[in-house]
Amino acid sequence: MDPKNAPILITGAGSGIGYHISCYLAERGYPVYAAARKPQHLEELAKIEHVTPIELDVRDPQQIHKAHDTIVQQGKGLYGLVNNAGVGGLGMFSTWTDEELYDIFNVNVFGVHRMSNAFLDLLLQAKGRIVNIGSQGGMITSKYYGPYTMTKHALEAYTVALNLELAAYGVSVSIVQPGGIVTNVGENAMQGILERFQRAQPPFKAEADLVLASFSEPETPPAQDEPESEYNRKPSSPEIVAAAVYDALFTEKPKLRYLVGTKWEGDRVIHALIEKLLDENDNPQHNYSRAELIAVLDQHLVKKNH
Ligand SMILES: NC(=O)c1ccc[n+]([C@@H]2O[C@H](COP(=O)([O-])OP(=O)(O)OC[C@H]3O[C@@H](n4cnc5c(N)ncnc54)[C@H](OP(=O)(O)O)[C@@H]3O)[C@@H](O)[C@H]2O)c1
Repeated sequence: MDPKNAPILITGAGSGIGYHISCYLAERGYPVYAAARKPQHLEELAKIEHVTPIELDVRDPQQIHKAHDTIVQQGKGLYGLVNNAGVGGLGMFSTWTDEELYDIFNVNVFGVHRMSNAFLDLLLQAKGRIVNIGSQGGMITSKYYGPYTMTKHALEAYTVALNLELAAYGVSVSIVQPGGIVTNVGENAMQGILERFQRAQPPFKAEADLVLASFSEPETPPAQDEPESEYNRKPSSPEIVAAAVYDALFTEKPKLRYLVGTKWEGDRVIHALIEKLLDENDNPQHNYSRAELIAVLDQHLVKKNH
């Protein structure tokens, strides 16, 4: 596709993954509408060739409406929407307030729905693409990651169902599922994280205090000469996310899911999914034998490779 005919709107473009996606596309000549909230982010984005900064908080319907007007006035249409804006957050469930739970869903899930619906008219005209930035936390979860991974699990279902709905109208929807990526997502969520662990009540307080103490310990960089593990994580560069987004936007037949990250992270996802499959298979009404499971796997491999 001629880059000039493929304007892309990216949310949360002021920092981290969104900023890298914006640069990646702009460097290749695509007109990028880079949506950010902070004045300093908007100023920085304005300096990049092919990038038009747009002030936008995905929780604010009026700002979204205004951004839609701006893009219509530019007269180039909209080929792609990258729903990247997102917030992190850890904590024990007993310490999350209803408001906090709503807030994280408001950005990570409702924000994606708001944006996709608001720009659907332009995406339909262009027979364009929607790319959601999910997470490997959309398939797995772990202690203290409950609410964040709930939002990313929700985004998985949203992506699959929306893709089915829009396929007949020429719009495809994909989800990119990064593992650990070098950004400030943890630091940006730290205030809420600290507040929640400080709020813990007995019997959880002693455990929460240990977590709080661990935050004050100096961070040890990954030991590069040792293999990656739960205790020696090796986060990847945002470039690999940008490359997957590029493929989802421009390849002829985009994939529904793009798993991105390290080999160790990929193994972890596959093992978690197999564990889930075996749990589902373990019930009196339905239980494939080992041979039947392998036959089903083979059937699906054949289907996928056609
Ligand atoms: N880093 C990772 O390891 C990782 C792994 C898997 C998935 N992800 C996902 O990747 C996406 C980007 O995260 P990141 O790692 O690049 O973190 P980040 O540097 O914290 O970037 C998040 C971006 O989202 C923006 N944002 C937050 N709330 C917003 C709102 N209400 N409206 C509009 N923009 C908002 C932030 O803008 P402000 O600066 O204005 O707050 C920021 O630019 C997220 O969806 C995240 O869940 C990240």
